[in-house]
Amino acid sequence: MAPAPFFNLRNRLLSSASFRRKAEKLPFGQWLARRHAGRLFRIAGGFIHTQVLLSCVRLNLFEILRPRPLTTAELAARTQIPEDRLRHLLAAAAALDLLKRRRRDRFGLGPLGAAMNENEAVTAFVLHHDAFYQDLIDPVALFAGTAETRMSSLWSYATARTTDNLERDDVRAYTKLMSESQSMVAEQVLDAFSFAESKSLIDIGGGSGAFAKAVAARWPELAITVADLPPVADIARQSMLDEGLERRIDVIGIDATSGDIPGTYDVVSLVRIIHDHDDDRALQILRTARAALSEGGRLLLAEPMAARNLAGVLNDAYFQVYLLAMGSGRPRRSGELKRLLKEAGFSSVKRCKTRVPLITSVLVARP
Ligand SMILES: C[S@@+](CC[C@H](N)C(=O)[O-])C[C@H]1O[C@@H](n2cnc3c(N)ncnc32)[C@H](O)[C@@H]1O
Repeated sequence: MAPAPFFNLRNRLLSSASFRRKAEKLPFGQWLARRHAGRLFRIAGGFIHTQVLLSCVRLNLFEILRPRPLTTAELAARTQIPEDRLRHLLAAAAALDLLKRRRRDRFGLGPLGAAMNENEAVTAFVLHHDAFYQDLIDPVALFAGTAETRMSSLWSYATARTTDNLERDDVRAYTKLMSESQSMVAEQVLDAFSFAESKSLIDIGGGSGAFAKAVAARWPELAITVADLPPVADIARQSMLDEGLERRIDVIGIDATSGDIPGTYDVVSLVRIIHDHDDDRALQILRTARAALSEGGRLLLAEPMAARNLAGVLNDAYFQVYLLAMGSGRPRRSGELKRLLKEAGFSSVKRCKTRVPLITSVLVARP
């Protein structure tokens, strides 16, 4: 990293409108001015990009255009949006690579729109951003903590003083969202981590069991248990019954911040769990996980992490605000997680490489 005096000088110069005007007349200054203008405009207009994507999802445009490109008139008939107004959405979506303009006033899928098809996980996330968007209408109130947030009602455990009073209705919506978005995470984790040397797994905070089911499909010999808060465990049990998996996957109701888990397991997994909690609760969960490990057992910790690379920066910006709106937790760098893991009694922590760290990174720890 450049030394501090460099940043101080750069910031002093770039903060001056007259310096910017002069610099723009030089070739390098012009390149920089264009770059900064583009990046700032992308941030300033990002909220529009989000809503263009949401509109495409709500209008089912990616699915409609999957078989072949259609004309604006055909799309207007399919979406019931007046043609002259729809034209604006189609053009904006094409500018964002969600759609692609074709000849004779037709639109087809763009590379990003095509990637939204058969992508239940991202679609579910895009749709649930609606509630988050409402929380962001007064962003300063959100940061100041002076407004109730929809996100904290959705994620009922984040602000609950005790989880004892949570009912099924309090956990149903987030459990559904987690289940719909789990497949992309499980794929990443299971390609990075092998259960070959393990006989048993407990997935703490395993929701309705989507990760456990993916593990069961890949590792048929592994004994698998899902543990989550009692009302979530009820949903998981029902889901196992519905799919005839009640003998294959065990479900227990627990609060991982208080009390032990019965039995020990070769692998304890925490998938998208620790970032939801402030350090004190995160430590309690890690200690519970450690106590549940059999001799030679491993902790599998998978979640999106903050980092200096593009994926890490995007995760940082997203989860810093998301988790604040939710009411607890923060995105952590792998170094911060390693420190927490050491404090919870783990001595060796290794990173397993995932294909798309934007979706999840993986740490494996041993006591
Ligand atoms: C973000 S969701 C992740 C669910 C699942 N692991 C996944 O990735 O799809 C967090 C899960 O942790 C559970 N959870 C939160 N606090 C908990 C606690 N104290 N003890 C046990 N589970 C908890 C929630 O009920 C929820 O199912």
